[in-house]
Amino acid sequence: MNFRMFCCGALLCALGGTARSQPAPHLEKRGSATQLIVDGKPFLALAGELNNTVSSDLGFMKTVWPTLANQAHLNTVLAGVAWDWIEPEEGHYDFRIVDAALENARQNNLRLVWLWFASWKNGISSFAPAWVKANQDRFPRAQIGNGKSVEVLSTLSDNNREADARAFAALMRHIREIDATQRVIMVQVENEVGILGDSRDRSAAANEAFAKPVPQALLDYLTAHKEAAVAPHGTGTWEEVFGKGPQADEIFMAWNYARYINRVVEAGKKEYAIPMYVNAWIIQPQDKGPGDYPSGGPQAHMHGIWRAGAPAIDLLCPDIYLPDFIGITAQYTRAGNPLFVPESTAGVEGAANAFYAIGAHNAMGYSPFAVDRETADVAKLPLSVAYAQLAQLAPTILEHQAQGTIAAVSLNRQRPEQQVKLGHYILNAALVRSFRTPDAIPDVTGYGIFMAVAPDEYLVAGNNLQISFTPNTPGPPIAGLARQEAGHFENGRWVATRLLGGDDSMLRSDFANVVEVGQSGSGVRLRAGDQGMQRVRLYRYR
Ligand code: DGJ
Repeated sequence: MNFRMFCCGALLCALGGTARSQPAPHLEKRGSATQLIVDGKPFLALAGELNNTVSSDLGFMKTVWPTLANQAHLNTVLAGVAWDWIEPEEGHYDFRIVDAALENARQNNLRLVWLWFASWKNGISSFAPAWVKANQDRFPRAQIGNGKSVEVLSTLSDNNREADARAFAALMRHIREIDATQRVIMVQVENEVGILGDSRDRSAAANEAFAKPVPQALLDYLTAHKEAAVAPHGTGTWEEVFGKGPQADEIFMAWNYARYINRVVEAGKKEYAIPMYVNAWIIQPQDKGPGDYPSGGPQAHMHGIWRAGAPAIDLLCPDIYLPDFIGITAQYTRAGNPLFVPESTAGVEGAANAFYAIGAHNAMGYSPFAVDRETADVAKLPLSVAYAQLAQLAPTILEHQAQGTIAAVSLNRQRPEQQVKLGHYILNAALVRSFRTPDAIPDVTGYGIFMAVAPDEYLVAGNNLQISFTPNTPGPPIAGLARQEAGHFENGRWVATRLLGGDDSMLRSDFANVVEVGQSGSGVRLRAGDQGMQRVRLYRYR
């Protein structure tokens, strides 16, 4: 991924289009993080994805926009735009749905990420226009198993690819022309691609390509990039190079999806170069092999193939509905892939996921799915509370992401504590509990984000979490609390609302035990609400 080239493209594009004072949204490497730059500044996407088709329901959406902005504290909405909606007749474009969303985003101070549901949505081609679907001769489909065609456009067809690319280019051109206030900050191109029901396309065109030599460009990439962790065996056909069986099939499909989508992305970026990503329907526990999950999608073990085939794609993103959020985000940040989580859960787990992704992996954003579903008491939902905290903290978080002085934890009954080294101390984070029964683990989800703001000072935020501190540099061995404030940010400035101590900070009373491990027994208890954000200064003693 060539960020420098990308940035230049974004700037030129912005200058070439509607007059704008800022370069177009783009990615920038800042210190230890790759960040999304919007209006010339790093931006943290506190996002949510709409159900697939609600963006086409303009009446329903009227009430949804303000709720998302004012009660759920979102700053970004991921909204579907289907190929069929904008090009119902070949060559005749209708952007009314796009324009309505842009206008509502403007009015509600929201940003948009478009989900381009075109050749594929969840592996199938349900959102392709009828003139495409009904003309199989011109727009060939994939075949699986015994040669039956499925409602899935084949990756091997120039007609399919060019028709999609033309429509996408028209969409991006339109956005460039009308989006003067840069509401649109990213685009997801296609949705959860990959072939289901078989490990590869078995149409005549696919069989022919599969029997040909593996492209030299892929072999060269894999040889030069050991981190791709896919080792080719010499040269020859896909089976000769990658072995007979589903592995070769999956690599073949990944390459063909990547090449196809890369072309679509290039056509879109030529019109308006903003960050573009693909999302993965990740492997589920019951899946035995490719085809049970979409074969060829941007699975973590296929990232090398996708990078080789699709250099124009900026991010490879996971849709995470499985409980192992920590493990999956680790897989999706390997080899420098910046993290954005376009689909995941809401609730308290969602709050913990958002904090974790942003604090532990410098994520540029988090987005639970189906945010339009909730109607009552949205402001009190755990994720709304968490987003309200993150919104206040965002400028500080973005600075600390770049400086590498940020960390986060996500805890639950199975993983009730974690130690984090940050700055001059070790932060011993644990699920919040009573100081009288420190060994009783509560059945809650706890989460926190920590920033080292000065040598002995931390800004921490979260919920259901307690933190004690142990020195991690030479000097007196025990850390005590010098000053502890609960508060919030107003216009980027910390405002202390309460001075904490006593019951607020007594975590343990078994001092004989804690003193042995360099702790004072005092620390921070984070509770979303009045004590969800704290600034703490430490001192050390013998
Ligand atoms: C994943 C897809 O990407 C979404 O569009 C949506 O269909 C959800 N699954 C539904 O759970």
